[in-house]
Amino acid sequence: MLGGMADQGEPIRSYIQPADGRLGILMPGLGAVATTLIAGVEAVKKDLARPIGSLTQMGSIRLGKRTENRVPRIRDFVPLASLDDIVFGGWDVYADNVYEAACNARVLDQPLLDAVKPELEAIRPMTAVFDRTYVSNLDGSNVKQAAGKAALADAVAEDIRRFRSDNDCARIVVVWCASTEKYIERSAVHATLAAFEQGLRDDDPAISPSMIYAYAAIRMGIPFINGAPNLTCDIPALIELARETSTPIGGKDFKTGQTLMKTILAPGLQARALGIKGWFSSNILGNRDGFVLDHPDNFRTKEVSKLSVLKDILHPEQNPELYGDLCHKVSINYYPPHGDNKESWDNIDIFGWLGYPMQIKINFLCRDSILAAPVVLDLALFVDLAKRAGMTGIQEWLSFYFKSPQTAPGLRPEHDIFKQLVKLQNTLRHMMGEDLITHLGLDYYQDLVEAL
Ligand SMILES: NC(=O)c1ccc[n+]([C@@H]2O[C@H](COP(=O)([O-])OP(=O)(O)OC[C@H]3O[C@@H](n4cnc5c(N)ncnc54)[C@H](O)[C@@H]3O)[C@@H](O)[C@H]2O)c1
Repeated sequence: MLGGMADQGEPIRSYIQPADGRLGILMPGLGAVATTLIAGVEAVKKDLARPIGSLTQMGSIRLGKRTENRVPRIRDFVPLASLDDIVFGGWDVYADNVYEAACNARVLDQPLLDAVKPELEAIRPMTAVFDRTYVSNLDGSNVKQAAGKAALADAVAEDIRRFRSDNDCARIVVVWCASTEKYIERSAVHATLAAFEQGLRDDDPAISPSMIYAYAAIRMGIPFINGAPNLTCDIPALIELARETSTPIGGKDFKTGQTLMKTILAPGLQARALGIKGWFSSNILGNRDGFVLDHPDNFRTKEVSKLSVLKDILHPEQNPELYGDLCHKVSINYYPPHGDNKESWDNIDIFGWLGYPMQIKINFLCRDSILAAPVVLDLALFVDLAKRAGMTGIQEWLSFYFKSPQTAPGLRPEHDIFKQLVKLQNTLRHMMGEDLITHLGLDYYQDLVEAL
């Protein structure tokens, strides 16, 4: 194995399975993010809109030297599933079909939703694995009644098998788009697969619904991505299971909005050796996600995910003069009038030459699900590619998309979005047998200058 890739001594390109047949994208949680993704893909397929923000659909990648002028679209470079071959499905604690759920989410305009109404109405959520212990602000009735956590995992596996056969899918991926669960620390029941399976039989409270979905999928060799900050598959037991079943996994917490801005700006300030004394971040959010995060247990999970970012970019211990006193605060305020249109305020206290202070203020009027939908699409397509390329376990090259990237034990996550992009692009080049790009260029630069 080479960094989670099967090392067969030949370019990965030569043994990537083709993206033939239909790809089922199953999502626990058919709320604002999932319905914005589904409606968006259906609208793109009808040529009603463009998939802006999706690297797989709109992004390109440079190959070889700058002088070669080879810059294909990513989707033309690596063998990804086509949007026409995608079938969506999922689970939710509310029984609304995807059209109803998308209307309730109030992210997309009604004329756009109506243009894809039949496609959306056809998708009805399967009954959820749900327990209010983990998300106390919700109370739906579309919930499985199986006796115990082991039986619930079997029921999810049965759902997946049925969906695959009813929709004639060649492959399935699962992406967690459900609410953020309450904060859970890693404990003994998460430490090994044997302990976890015993915990399922014992209904251990440290096993949350998201872990049950993840276990069911990974046991079947189905790639699993976690878009919320819950632990979910970021526990040794499920990493072990992913290794045993040769399954790619990834998480946690889609990187959108304020954290996206942070991981764009902080590396820039650090690159110029500017100091940062404080970073105060507040958010006003009025959708169901904001309602769930209004509960302190659920906010704690999000807070841990959001707070780790700056330390991991700035490394205060390596540069105490610039970042040793950094004060980083994050808050989320549930404010219904804003709906899905999140407003974030950042006040950044920086200092420059001779310690002179300066301030940066950012007021980002974003749309949470508009930023998240293309991230879900890219993750689903890339993790399906990873599976077909024989890449197993934690897919760190997908860190680009996460607020709190899952890494191999003992490794610090990389949060700098530019390093994350280089890693993602180099992974694609490596898969396809292209030279990795170091941006050195000295090998051909001098020839170019002399030729002038
Ligand atoms: N929108 C973003 O920018 C963004 C960014 C990072 C992470 N996230 C995370 O993505 C997730 C989805 O966000 P959203 O805005 O769509 O939230 P949402 O509240 O609109 O949708 C979540 C859905 O999950 C359902 N649900 C809850 N528990 C479930 C379970 N156990 N099984 C099945 N369904 C369940 C809820 O009923 C709800 O419909 C949240 O965890 C959020 O924190 C969103």
